[in-house]
Amino acid sequence: MRQEDPIYAHRSPGGGTIWYITRMAEGTAVLKDNDHFVKDFRNTLPPDAKKPQKSAMHRLINENMLFADAPDHTRLRTLVNQAFTPRRVEQLAPRIQQITDELLDGIAAAGQADLIADFALPMPVRIIAELLGIPPEDQAEVADWSQAIISPGSRNLNYSARKRKVRAFVAYLQEMFALRQKNPQDDLISALVQAEEAGERLNEAELSSMVALLLVTGHETTVNLLGNGALALLTHPEQLGLLRERPELWETAVEELLRFDGPVEISTTRWVRADFAFEGHQMRRGDVVRVVLASANRDGCHFAQPNVLDVTRRDNRHLAFGMGIHYCLGAPLARLEGQIGLQTLFERFPNLQLAVPTAQLKWRSGVLFRGLKALPIHINAEMGLFR
Ligand code: HEM
Repeated sequence: MRQEDPIYAHRSPGGGTIWYITRMAEGTAVLKDNDHFVKDFRNTLPPDAKKPQKSAMHRLINENMLFADAPDHTRLRTLVNQAFTPRRVEQLAPRIQQITDELLDGIAAAGQADLIADFALPMPVRIIAELLGIPPEDQAEVADWSQAIISPGSRNLNYSARKRKVRAFVAYLQEMFALRQKNPQDDLISALVQAEEAGERLNEAELSSMVALLLVTGHETTVNLLGNGALALLTHPEQLGLLRERPELWETAVEELLRFDGPVEISTTRWVRADFAFEGHQMRRGDVVRVVLASANRDGCHFAQPNVLDVTRRDNRHLAFGMGIHYCLGAPLARLEGQIGLQTLFERFPNLQLAVPTAQLKWRSGVLFRGLKALPIHINAEMGLFR
């Protein structure tokens, strides 16, 4: 597709069109063009059209900055930027290290592990919960609620069970906002409650969906950087060897792992605002457009030897975190978690090996995220047999 039809129109049986953009140049152009491509479907409707109403659950999941256009997006992003500062992220480094060490202690004691369940998932989930200020005793319940919102299928939840969980989650958050309003702490929820721009604050619905968005991104993304990154290094031992000799390369290595097999395979949906021609292709109002980030990151017109994993790669301008106004808010945190997590893992267990052949590894279904269901490992070379 990248070579022959990089702006590919998939005509669905229902009559709609989904455009898949697979090259870096056109992908970047789409992500940067907020005039023609919008995130909120309602902005494709003529001004006098009746705007569809959304259910409370839909609002909690979708009414956040990732699915908003200017000026709403600008206001939400400016407010969250006040709370999610580089300083707050930098301060997390010792805590990320501590949680990593604790989780790896557990693996050391067992001698073997599923790297996803025992390390790649719990590390970022605990960090985002702590960053938000969710007390340790509530974290399991909050994880249960957010799982119910994100992947109800995997939990066999029917609509009303899911709705009940969403209600409980919203009630919990409302109580939390009220508490933090009265008695602010040094956490992200307090900072979000207090953030103010030009006399405006986040209202309660915006606060809830902002926290839900941060929890979802905390659950679904960095886990795949740690999982896919560990797998890529285990299957490229010469690159791992380079990192052992030159640990200063970990920073460029994480960038390369994001490019080579990143956590997010495809951008979230954009909608064509009004009929227009994009690079010679006639697009219609309301068409769906999705940039295949994983493909753009392997585009030979942009990267030398795109299919080679090279931890020394410089000038690595990939799309793993997107581009433009929706560029990932959590990128500095994810990079820090990736660097600390992967470096500590491979330094602590120099003989780490896969416990099953790569052909037996199972990937999660769905096109948005790219991640392993499980990554069985041994920490001793003699026990691990596969590469
Ligand atoms: C390696 C891990 C991560 C990757 C690869 C990743 C990737 C992305 C991508 C590709 C987008 C843009 C989507 C689009 O334009 O369609 C995005 C947006 C976003 N990400 Fe991440 N993300 C990661 C981790 C995180 C974390 C840890 C957080 C939160 C703490 C986070 C919060 C967000 C938010 C809030 C947005 C929406 C920004 C906006 O609309 O302005 N991400 N991320």
